[in-house]
Amino acid sequence: MKILIVLGSPRRKGNSESAAAAVAEELTSIVPGEVEYVRLAKLAVSPCIGCGGCEKSGECVVKDDMTELYPKVDEADLIFLAAPTYFYGLSAQIKSFIDRIQARWSRKYLLKVKFREGEPRTGYLVCTAATHGKKLFDGSVLVAKSFFDAIDVKYGGSLLIRGVDKRGAFSAKQDEIDQARALARDIAAQLTG
Ligand SMILES: Cc1cc2nc3c(=O)[nH]c(=O)nc-3n(C[C@H](O)[C@H](O)[C@H](O)COP(=O)(O)O)c2cc1C
Repeated sequence: MKILIVLGSPRRKGNSESAAAAVAEELTSIVPGEVEYVRLAKLAVSPCIGCGGCEKSGECVVKDDMTELYPKVDEADLIFLAAPTYFYGLSAQIKSFIDRIQARWSRKYLLKVKFREGEPRTGYLVCTAATHGKKLFDGSVLVAKSFFDAIDVKYGGSLLIRGVDKRGAFSAKQDEIDQARALARDIAAQLTG
C-alpha cells in the first residue's frame, strides 16, 4: 500500500507535519505501507493559470515540479493532505498543488477518462490552527473534499487540531496525539475489515 502525505506547511516539523506523521506511524505499525512525504515548500509548484489547456488534453500545460507529483497522486492508495490554517483556509503552497489538480478534474468531468475504476482509494485532511473557532476548518474541509473528488478518491475524514501555534505545540499535546492515533486505528480497521 502506497501512502502519500502532501505537506503544505513551509515549517519543517511543524504542527500539521507532526500530526500527519503521528497518524502515519500508528497506521504503518498496524498495516504495512510505504510512506512518502512530499514537502511542497521545497518544490516549485506554480498556481494554476486557468489557460484551459487541460480541458483538451487532460495534461497540465505548466511544466514545473508538479509534473512529477501527478504520477505520485495517481499511484497512491491512501492520500493525506496535511496543512496549516492560513486565514481560515489552507496554505498557499497546498492550494497551488490542489488547483493544479484541475488537470485531473478535466480528465474526469470533461474528457470522461475513467481512472483506477473499482480500486477504492481514500483521502484524509490533517489541518492545524492556532485558535479555536467553530468554523475554523469549514473552508479547508470543503476544499479537501473537492480535491479528493477530482481524483476519484473517497474522502475518509479529517484530523482537525485547534489551539496549536508554535512549532512543537502538537507534539506536546497528548490528547491530540491520541486523536491522531485513533484516526490511524480507524483507517487500519477499514483497510483490514
Ligand atoms: C499566515 C498565517 C495565517 C494564519 N491564519 C490562521 C487563522 O486564520 N486561524 C488560526 O487559528 N490560525 C492561523 N494561523 C496559525 C497556524 O494555523 C498554526 O500556527 C498552525 O498550527 C501552523 O501549522 P504548521 O506548524 O504545520 O505550519 C496562521 C499562521 C500564519 C503564519
